[in-house]
Amino acid sequence: MKRLNGKIAIVTGGADGIGHAISEAMAGEGAHIFVSDIDDAKGHAFVDALNRSGGKVNYVHCDVSVESDIADLIAKAVEQTGRLDILVNNAAVAIGGMPVHEMTDEQWHRLIAINLTSVFRGCKYALPHMIRQHSGAIINMASAQGHIGLEGWTAYAGAKGAVMAMTRQMAVEFGPHNVRVNSISPGTINTPMNEKIIAEHGDKIARAWVKMHPIGRIGTPQEVAEAAVYLASDAAGFTTGMDLRVDGGLTATPRYVPDLI
Ligand SMILES: NC(=O)c1ccc[n+]([C@@H]2O[C@H](COP(=O)([O-])OP(=O)(O)OC[C@H]3O[C@@H](n4cnc5c(N)ncnc54)[C@H](O)[C@@H]3O)[C@@H](O)[C@H]2O)c1
Repeated sequence: MKRLNGKIAIVTGGADGIGHAISEAMAGEGAHIFVSDIDDAKGHAFVDALNRSGGKVNYVHCDVSVESDIADLIAKAVEQTGRLDILVNNAAVAIGGMPVHEMTDEQWHRLIAINLTSVFRGCKYALPHMIRQHSGAIINMASAQGHIGLEGWTAYAGAKGAVMAMTRQMAVEFGPHNVRVNSISPGTINTPMNEKIIAEHGDKIARAWVKMHPIGRIGTPQEVAEAAVYLASDAAGFTTGMDLRVDGGLTATPRYVPDLI
């Protein structure tokens, strides 16, 4: 029996990286997925391939920093299928690698719009449907950086910490409506987001990432997708308000200090 048979799911930022893996895994478990992204060429190509291999998948353009795009995405899924069972607020950007005093207000506002306000808006438009159904699962993508500090990433960490706090609040508020709200905190995962960081800062950072994770490697998008499938499934029916760390032990260890070892 597939774990998400017949469920209707929306994934933001689903054309690449972790969102791509979540969409693929959820489709494989029988869910009808509405994949959304700003990269329409990649999104369409991905959805066509999934549909050819037997999935039930739609692509919808959605820039999560634009309120009307989020409203339209959720309206489309509900108009077409009559319901919404799973919302994965996944899209985010990595703006950072600089000290706070070198970050511009423009960079701050862009990061907050894409990484945080998007989560508020996704929930705002999805919750009325989930409340009406008396069921639903929301998964917000947080980060290990919402748990630990790393130089240069204050704004990103602030947004992810807020995502976790909002997740807890909404779990309390909407538990009585049988709507579960959880977050996932990945450690370093092999995605285009990190390929960009390596391109900017060099291979040294990739070697440091490996050493920072007690498991001795960085993670794969599929490992995060497995956690999302679990949290979305009925197997997690009594699990809400939690943050699931998929981080190879990164947040369990004190900071790795290469010079001392
Ligand atoms: N990769 C990691 O190591 C890591 C670690 C912790 C948390 N995360 C979180 O996991 C999530 C996915 O990260 P990833 O590494 O797969 O990122 P990624 O950059 O590899 O992929 C992100 C996807 O989101 C899309 N996107 C970017 N801006 C968008 C916007 N405004 N609206 C809609 N879509 C947009 C991109 O086109 C892309 O398809 C993010 O929330 C990220 O913060 C990632």
